[in-house]
Amino acid sequence: MYVSDLALDDFRSYHHLVLSLKAGPTALIGANGQGKTNLVEAVGYLSTLSSHRVGAETALVRRAGPGEEQPGGAVVRAKVVRGQRPSVIEIEIISGKANRARLNRGACRPRDLLGVLRTVVFAPEDLVLVAGEPGGRRRLLDDLAVALRPALAATRTEHEKILAQRASLLKSARAHGASRGPTGSVLTTLEVWDAQLAASAARLIAARVDVVSRLRPWLEGAYAAVSEGAADASRQAALAYRSSLLAHEGRPDPVPGPQAWVQDEEGLRDVPATAARLETAMADLRRREIERGANLVGAHRDDLSLFLGSLPAKGFASHGEQWSLALALRLASYEMLRADVDALGGDGEPVLVLDDVFASLDERRRRALAGLVAGAQQVLLTSAVDQDVPDELAGARFRVHDGAVTRV
Ligand SMILES: Nc1ncnc2c1ncn2[C@@H]1O[C@H](COP(=O)(O)OP(=O)(O)O)[C@@H](O)[C@H]1O
Ligand SMILES: [Mg+2]
Repeated sequence: MYVSDLALDDFRSYHHLVLSLKAGPTALIGANGQGKTNLVEAVGYLSTLSSHRVGAETALVRRAGPGEEQPGGAVVRAKVVRGQRPSVIEIEIISGKANRARLNRGACRPRDLLGVLRTVVFAPEDLVLVAGEPGGRRRLLDDLAVALRPALAATRTEHEKILAQRASLLKSARAHGASRGPTGSVLTTLEVWDAQLAASAARLIAARVDVVSRLRPWLEGAYAAVSEGAADASRQAALAYRSSLLAHEGRPDPVPGPQAWVQDEEGLRDVPATAARLETAMADLRRREIERGANLVGAHRDDLSLFLGSLPAKGFASHGEQWSLALALRLASYEMLRADVDALGGDGEPVLVLDDVFASLDERRRRALAGLVAGAQQVLLTSAVDQDVPDELAGARFRVHDGAVTRV
């Protein structure tokens, strides 16, 4: 698929922008702070309804200059060509209110847009995928799970709500029980929330395990290609789902290879069974959860373990290896989505966004990346200077300057 038209109103630094794009590579060139990332961020937002940079949506609405009226919201609209069928998708991001969406000009729920435009975004921030906290890795898995199965977005939202409500119940149980221990009615209410949390967490976990197993074959190849010729090329990249439930049950930590944990991981695909195990774990942890006033087991405490050879990447991999692995994760995501052709034979190939990555890569990785993505249906890449755009990705070129985008 590819984006043929993009329109922005009051999104980030853009007042009003209309842009026609073509399939193949497109480079956006401009000095720092001119609006390149803002532009590709808008494309990514339409695909996942979240930004790869910020959590807070208010930052996405243009801040008016002095003496100018503050816009109440931002609009991002795109025409997406998938096979022969174009779709027009639009999201209005309204400060302090629920967003509004349109699909082919008709009003719809924002989440109905998920799945229409698929993107894979690789940006310098992705280094935290390897080196950072588990939250970023869970988000990677959840975003991919939703891209594969948009209906899962509802589970994801529901899971977050249940977590918040159960946490506040645990906190009030702690407050009440400080002297007397939690009362019967609090315990009954908690059990209801246990069941709800277990059910939604189990669905999320099964979807993540599915993503991990789909990514696995692609990651090895992508890492080998990206690190080709480097001293570390002989080591294989591997990934495993690290579940807080399995840790609680005393199962071994994931390591590449052994059959035991692969079976443990596979066992998590059974949603009702996982839900029942989670409920048991929550019952075991009841006292500690109340003491801490926090949800201690479940999907929100899980992680994705990454390995090079038999060593965990976090804490062991060099800076260059971490870069290669982060890049390989995104490329594997791209290949995995591309291989996922829907039942109607519609093409699932995502739009690939490479935000400011060539400048951070050495010549060898730059060549490897360019070779890998040169055949992609659409690549949107940003760079501060023309020279950093590899020859393989020569295509349409735009200058981005002070919020204006002009074809060169
Ligand atoms: N909500 C906003 N309103 C107005 N300007 C914004 C907003 N968010 C970011 N900007 C401006 O956008 C610019 C950064 O644009 P960005 O796309 O990140 O640049 P780059 O071309 O380096 O990728 C900064 O000057 C920043 O102040
Ligand atoms: Mg940028």
